[in-house]
Amino acid sequence: MLSIEGEVVKREESKVNSKISTGNIEIKAKSIRILSECETLPFNIEQNSNISEQVRMKYRYLDLRRKDMQNNLIMKSKICNVTRDFFNKEGFLEIETPILTKSTPEGARDYLVPSRVNEGKFYALPQSPQIFKQLLMLSGYDRYIQIARCFRDEDLRADRQPEFTQIDMELSFINEEDIMEIQERYMKRLFKEVVDVDIDIPFNRITYKEAMEHFGSDAPDLRFGMELKDLSDIFAGCDFKVFADTIANGGSVRAITVPGAAAYTRKQIDELIEFVKIYKAKGLASFAIENGEYKSNILRFMNEEQINQVVKRTEVKEGDLVLLVADKNDVVFASLGALRCEMAKRLDLINKNEYNFTWVVDFPMFEYDEEDKRYYAVHHPFTAPKDEDIELLDTDPLKVRAKAYDLVLNGTELGGGSIRIHSRELQKKVFGILGFTDEEAEDRFGFLLNAFKYGVPPHGGLAYGLDRLVMLILGLESIRDAIAFPKDKNAACQMTDAPSIVEDNQLKELHIKLDKKEDK
Ligand code: AMO
Ligand code: AMP
Repeated sequence: MLSIEGEVVKREESKVNSKISTGNIEIKAKSIRILSECETLPFNIEQNSNISEQVRMKYRYLDLRRKDMQNNLIMKSKICNVTRDFFNKEGFLEIETPILTKSTPEGARDYLVPSRVNEGKFYALPQSPQIFKQLLMLSGYDRYIQIARCFRDEDLRADRQPEFTQIDMELSFINEEDIMEIQERYMKRLFKEVVDVDIDIPFNRITYKEAMEHFGSDAPDLRFGMELKDLSDIFAGCDFKVFADTIANGGSVRAITVPGAAAYTRKQIDELIEFVKIYKAKGLASFAIENGEYKSNILRFMNEEQINQVVKRTEVKEGDLVLLVADKNDVVFASLGALRCEMAKRLDLINKNEYNFTWVVDFPMFEYDEEDKRYYAVHHPFTAPKDEDIELLDTDPLKVRAKAYDLVLNGTELGGGSIRIHSRELQKKVFGILGFTDEEAEDRFGFLLNAFKYGVPPHGGLAYGLDRLVMLILGLESIRDAIAFPKDKNAACQMTDAPSIVEDNQLKELHIKLDKKEDK
């Protein structure tokens, strides 16, 4: 690194190098000082393409010198500025909430921090500021916002990090419409200011049920078609035992029609079978029309009537390929929903310049886990049920819909929120359905239930994933590119080597004995 004093002059026209940003100037130096020396770099910073992710992570401080990484972090900073300005003008207050806290159930595992002064006790790092922001409503801070760090010990994916940032907010005396209306104005201003794109509001809305049935996902990508079609009535009682049995047992047979893919080879279809197996599908049947002929690995099980009905329902034309999955509904939705996106990518059907927003509404309150034999909250336990469904809490919890909404951008959940329960009795009832005994509810959430004794305004809110927002705005492949110092797939930081072994005396102070596995 150099410090040069001198005069900046324009280069002669013939010497201008348009490939570099300083290519049209010269410095007539009076003095040059070396501020610090630089060893040979482990990789060429200008050349992005073939540096392995591992090297980039180890030398993250050099990786961050790259132009595209700088653009990503500049974008993140701009988003934060616009966000603060927008919500400040709307009367929101920025308030901090604790990082060393008590576990809030958002569905992931907690990161725990042992307490030195309270032997055998642990703090949990917040999965979100959920309970604290609700308490702030009760304390009279009607509009709260925070750009908040959150921590979740969950399996990592391209759009998930163990440590990430939320744009988190909560409001009192509002309903779902009020919240969605503010968010739409916020998104409109944000996209105009950071990427100069005019987005249309209000956003499209789709119910959870429609999203699952048409797109196989609660975060549907609406930039392309290929909607799922239910063929169960056509195949009920058919000769193909797998299909007939699945339908008889309450499952379904559904399909997508892939345009122009009739020529897919056996090998390519086998690849797709492997793909859907990731989502627990047991097989993938195909049906194509090529050169006026039907080509299908289940043709021998179908009569003419069934063939005609399938053609009509799936709208398959010459040159198209229909892909069918028969299974329990959740497996059919997960596998065909993912296959739909995969095929759109393979066939380049996605307009990468489009920002397609949709609200997903009318989520169910609960889902039932067959293995654990208990209900889980689809959003979180503080979400209010729809007024008209409250009675179903006692009779049929799975039918209860929640006052919850997710904002989906290009097939990724950008944010989610809900109107909250503000009655102590209703909150206790929901804890009960979720399997907490009165004592357990008291132990974990006693402070909230106590607070609810002292008057709670009706309230609700929402949180966006800030890192995901950067990712989606810039079309990044990985959330790691939206974070200055991210973790790798094993939730480790390759640059600092965290997590790492600590000294025995540190453990002793924390009253912790390790149950060490034998060294291999
Ligand atoms: P939720 O759990 O849906 O809601 O999270 C809100 C948003 O946070 C982002 N997000 C993540 N981003 C990166 N890595 C992760 N591991 C990760 N997990 C979540 C997503 C998601 O939409 N307290 C509620 C919000 C509320 O009800 O107000 C909550 O946390 O973009
Ligand atoms: P088989 O008679 O077992 O050769 O199956 C015929 C075709 O049906 C094969 O292409 C299988 O991949 C497909 N298949 C098998 N099980 C399922 C299923 N559950 N859903 C969709 N297709 C299936």
